[in-house]
Amino acid sequence: KAMRRLVRETSLSVDDLIAPLFVRPGRKVRKPISSMPGQFQFSVDEAAKEAVELFEAGIPAMILFGIPPRKDRLGTGAYTADGIVQKAVRAIRKKAPELLIMTDVCLCEYTSHGHCGVVRGRGRNFEVDNDATLKLLAKTAVSQARAGAQVVAPSAMMDGQVLAIREALDRSGFEGVAIMAYAAKFASAFYGPFRDAAESPPQFGDRSTYQMDPANVREALREVEMDAAEGADILMVKPALAYMDIIRLVRDEYDEPLACYNVSGEYAMVKAAAQKGWIDEQEIVLEMLTGFRRAGADMILTYHAKDAAVWLK
Ligand code: PBG
Repeated sequence: KAMRRLVRETSLSVDDLIAPLFVRPGRKVRKPISSMPGQFQFSVDEAAKEAVELFEAGIPAMILFGIPPRKDRLGTGAYTADGIVQKAVRAIRKKAPELLIMTDVCLCEYTSHGHCGVVRGRGRNFEVDNDATLKLLAKTAVSQARAGAQVVAPSAMMDGQVLAIREALDRSGFEGVAIMAYAAKFASAFYGPFRDAAESPPQFGDRSTYQMDPANVREALREVEMDAAEGADILMVKPALAYMDIIRLVRDEYDEPLACYNVSGEYAMVKAAAQKGWIDEQEIVLEMLTGFRRAGADMILTYHAKDAAVWLK
């Protein structure tokens, strides 16, 4: 065993983990997410408590997703000063000042149609207006930074989103706020449980006009190239399990820190099989997380973060 410790090529520690968290309106709410056992929608007060627990478990960072009180066509809830995520950031900064707070920058949780940007038309003829969306994403990032977010994470897959956000942050005095870009984000069935959790399934059509085709590798590298050139501080590949080759390629070709997102469907599959007694949850999770690190990820966004922190002690 000692010998194996000495020759082990890949390390996994709590330092590598980022915990996602869903915030919703209300007080003293911890609403279980049925397709993600062990995960909850938290009201702001409860989210702050959870953040303290994450920090005490040794986890360096969290990423926030919001479920707003109301949705509308333009996703106003994403960028109002008293938006649900903005409130949560302020509360968490107070209670857990040393926990790094990342915020997801997207409109799909806030739009009535569930798409990640401004939509023209409906049904089969709908189109997402890329450039009109950029302005709203930039507004969202600035309002999150103003609330105290230290890393903003654009996930809408609009072309030019990293540059638009970087310029807006700099203009508003937030040069120090970093951007973690969902750079290669695939149109994936593995996001199913997240859309329950964030109450954000598209009401018509799907996301395949702006998220990537799972069959494409060269295109993924082009997406990563754009985000790196636009000033992304951290690059991300998402999902993780079925995209290990992309993680490896990006690691080999880019010097930026690299994240991968161990997404909701990947979590749900492990939980379901573990609940049936078909797999050993702890061993499976640690093996998967080690695999992401071996593939080249520096950091992992994972719903297993809190459990893994205990197992890695
Ligand atoms: C927002 C967003 C999604 C996820 C992260 N940010 C959903 C989507 O693109 O449909 C998915 C995360 C997960 O499945 O865990 N655009």
